[in-house]
Amino acid sequence: MPVPLLDLRAQHALIKDEVVSAMMRVVDDQLFILGAPVQQLEEAVARLSHTAHAIGCASGTDALLLALRALDIGRGDEVVTTPFTFFATAGTIHNVGARPVFCDIDPITFNMVPAAAAAACTSRTKAIIPVDLFGQMAPIESIALAAPRIPVIEDAAQTIGASRMIDGERRMAGEVATIGTFSFFPSKNLGGYGDGGMMVTQDAALATRLKRLRVHGGMQMYHHDEVGYNSRLDALQAAVLSAKLPHLSHWSAGRRANAAYYTSAFADLADVKTPVIEPANDSIFNQYTIRVERRDELQAHLKAKGIGSAVYYPVPLHLQPCFEYLGYKQGAFPESERAAKEVLSLPIYPELTSAQLDEVITAVRAFYGR
Ligand SMILES: Cc1ncc(COP(=O)(O)O)c(C=O)c1O
Repeated sequence: MPVPLLDLRAQHALIKDEVVSAMMRVVDDQLFILGAPVQQLEEAVARLSHTAHAIGCASGTDALLLALRALDIGRGDEVVTTPFTFFATAGTIHNVGARPVFCDIDPITFNMVPAAAAAACTSRTKAIIPVDLFGQMAPIESIALAAPRIPVIEDAAQTIGASRMIDGERRMAGEVATIGTFSFFPSKNLGGYGDGGMMVTQDAALATRLKRLRVHGGMQMYHHDEVGYNSRLDALQAAVLSAKLPHLSHWSAGRRANAAYYTSAFADLADVKTPVIEPANDSIFNQYTIRVERRDELQAHLKAKGIGSAVYYPVPLHLQPCFEYLGYKQGAFPESERAAKEVLSLPIYPELTSAQLDEVITAVRAFYGR
């Protein structure tokens, strides 16, 4: 039985009526740009994230771009992040004219190490971007403590609805950062039927600036205080996402259950390192990512058995040709480089049947002769 890495059609089949009628309401109203559907979703995401403000935009990439611009980051500035992330995290730093400065990751969680981030800061550092990788939050409170007074943009593209115990309180992804950013790319736990993104913040002035930046830098039509972007969240996408949002916590619980099932099934395989979630964290398992030494062989074996898998991410960003100008060499970030060689993400979506889960488990175990 083939098991795809992700089967969006399985989810769509379960919610088709709700989503299609939400989309048809927008079509019937013929109000496609911002308006009530976007505002409703913004209010719902602000509630979920325990933030005062949420601002929809065109993608998770643009959410990072607008966040950097709202913090006045540009030429001559540095922004610290990790090289083991999706390209957008560093690409947007470059695109506002600033310099990406990398620090290595924790090999257990793949997330930023606060002391390494602090050590990478200079007098030119204008922000730190921790990435909540694969569904669990980075140690955001320790990063803020290690580098006080430097704004934190939390790249929570993969982590909407995840939480972390901080000083005895459960804090949501995006809640304690200066600005948190989400992606609604279709493969995310809350995925649209196209691109979409959102920024959250507790700061009213930043929220106003982000709103302005997404509409060409002017709140009044044809009057522009600064040069911004056309980066609105599409009203049709907002309608889809609002229809899907009530299911999010159930879907994330399904992913957690699948993750627990895999982890116990692989417990006796010394060659397979299963994901480790910090005790403080509640992961939403956007990915279930194992570490293995013969990664490419395992992936080929799974493919031959019809099982989807993916490598997130095969080339750390400091070794990408476009960032050669930054001057980093092979060996600069050994943990990121080792992770890039060893990680493999397995199917984890909540609609997986137990037969499909068992198929994946059997195939992985067979690779190790078990
Ligand atoms: C960590 C991370 N940052 C940023 C993005 C960019 O989001 P988008 O694809 O919506 O532009 C993604 C998603 O693809 C991501 O996983």
